[in-house]
Amino acid sequence: MPDFVHKPVMMAEVLGALKPEPGGRYADGTVAGAGHAAAILDKSSPTGWLSGCDRDGVAVEVARVRLATYAGRFEIRQGNFAELGSWVPAGSCDGVLLDLGVSSPQLDTAERGFSFQQDGPLDMRMDARQSLTAADLVNGASADELAKIFWEFGDERESRRFARAIVHDREQSAFSTTRQVAELIERLSPRAGRRTHPATKVFQALRLAVNDEIGSLKRGLDSALKILKPGGRLAVITFHSLEDRVVKDFGRARARDYTFTGGLDVPELREPRTPELRWVTRKAVKPGAAEVADNLRSRSAQLRVMEKI
Ligand SMILES: C[S@@+](CC[C@H](N)C(=O)[O-])C[C@H]1O[C@@H](n2cnc3c(N)ncnc32)[C@H](O)[C@@H]1O
Repeated sequence: MPDFVHKPVMMAEVLGALKPEPGGRYADGTVAGAGHAAAILDKSSPTGWLSGCDRDGVAVEVARVRLATYAGRFEIRQGNFAELGSWVPAGSCDGVLLDLGVSSPQLDTAERGFSFQQDGPLDMRMDARQSLTAADLVNGASADELAKIFWEFGDERESRRFARAIVHDREQSAFSTTRQVAELIERLSPRAGRRTHPATKVFQALRLAVNDEIGSLKRGLDSALKILKPGGRLAVITFHSLEDRVVKDFGRARARDYTFTGGLDVPELREPRTPELRWVTRKAVKPGAAEVADNLRSRSAQLRVMEKI
């Protein structure tokens, strides 16, 4: 447990957005190492309350231990933040935080299978109780399905070629490790001076698919809005453009005073509606240079903050 080290990103910005205070009620849908959670409980001492969850059972155990000094002021469950609305009372929260993606321990623990830089089983499950693993997708999905995953979740331009090569190679023997997949992609698309590893997008795509991260995010944003009080704030930290687009689209749609049908926003198709939230930060907030220098993993973080009306 002592080696579960995750540096929380954009701490000052998150606290500035949520403004935790005594008596306030907060929800953290991605507790992990409890960095943000501890700060929220600290700032809302002595009477603030935190409902927290994480899909990762290891993280939940760590968080419970780390938050022991705040005993009696929090409840942490293992689960998907998409389900926050099923156990946190509707309209009860002053602030909700979703700090998306994976934690450093998930990435750095080879046995979890998230990293192409270390050899491990092709796993990638955030919640070990889930049955679907990356190996199931790599060895079981059709070439079309794999190409769709690489394209939609990884924006991988060579999605079809990579998918066909995987399906071809697995006929000889099934893939079982991260290195086997990383090496195949490297053979097909040599690194040749590129800054990022050629398998980066494929790994991101597999991870998103295994954990249904985009589907969870969409449901999680709805859940967060449901449990917020009017005036309560939602802070979301994303780490890649796909996630950020979902958050931006959600915020835009819920902040509008009209809806439209047929996917086309033209005046004739508009129907009036009551906006459910307003943007607190019009543009995404990024970490400062000092934070990026201190914590390289923060470099792709973007924070968006909304307020329920
Ligand atoms: C970037 S870390 C969060 C770090 C945390 N804020 C801290 O201060 O230590 C992301 C965490 O979110 C969890 N996670 C990702 N998607 C989730 C979801 N849909 N529901 C619950 N937890 C999720 C991951 O398991 C991981 O532990």
